[in-house]
Amino acid sequence: MNQKLIVAIDGPAGSGKSTVTHLLARKLGYVHIDTGALYRAVALKAKELGISYDDAPALGRCALSCRLEFQWLNDDRNHVFLDGKNVSSLIRTPEISMAASKISAYPEVRDALLGLQRQLGEKGGVVLEGRDIGTVVFPNAHAKFFLTASVDSRARRRAVELEEKGVYLDFEEVKKQVVDRDRGDTERKVAPLKKAADALEVDTTNMTVGQVVDTLAMIVEERSKRG
Ligand code: DC
Repeated sequence: MNQKLIVAIDGPAGSGKSTVTHLLARKLGYVHIDTGALYRAVALKAKELGISYDDAPALGRCALSCRLEFQWLNDDRNHVFLDGKNVSSLIRTPEISMAASKISAYPEVRDALLGLQRQLGEKGGVVLEGRDIGTVVFPNAHAKFFLTASVDSRARRRAVELEEKGVYLDFEEVKKQVVDRDRGDTERKVAPLKKAADALEVDTTNMTVGQVVDTLAMIVEERSKRG
């Protein structure tokens, strides 16, 4: 029988991670875990409680106090619930994107979310997407991918995503946000965005989503058969 694997997908904002992870999980019959949604939910709670995004100890306590769950709903998506409330849309604003990037640099916040991420993935049959899945959360994941794309194409994808949610921003502004967030995620001291030594890097700039999904699925299925 095919083994149910742990698949790690890391990469910068707008590299196509979310779409690819969603479709790959569906193709494999696996669960999709969006770990960025956890950082976003903590940022949202901090905002609601008036906690400063500079107060690392308070943010760590805030992260520990969050009840975070994923629930599969009819729209074929794994929604994130914060303290019993579906916050999947509320966490997708540019403000929460920057806040999540900022608070994710604090070890207090990362530590608070580490156990939950491992718990969500440990049984296998999961595709986890994030920044440090292959390096920190599941260094022994069965398959690891690092998705990249040019800054322009990532900014274009982000702009389309935002427009689909009714948020219209100047392209240069979206690009600046993508570059700023990359810098924060890559330069932070704890668990920075970085390709794991044994991850396969896939540059998606000139690939269709279908091509990326098929490439990754083939590799995962091959490893799954090998057991
Ligand atoms: O994947 P995303 O854009 O929704 O993630 C939001 C922020 O959360 C991102 O800027 C960095 C942080 N993050 C992280 O530090 N580690 C992860 N595994 C996932 C996200």
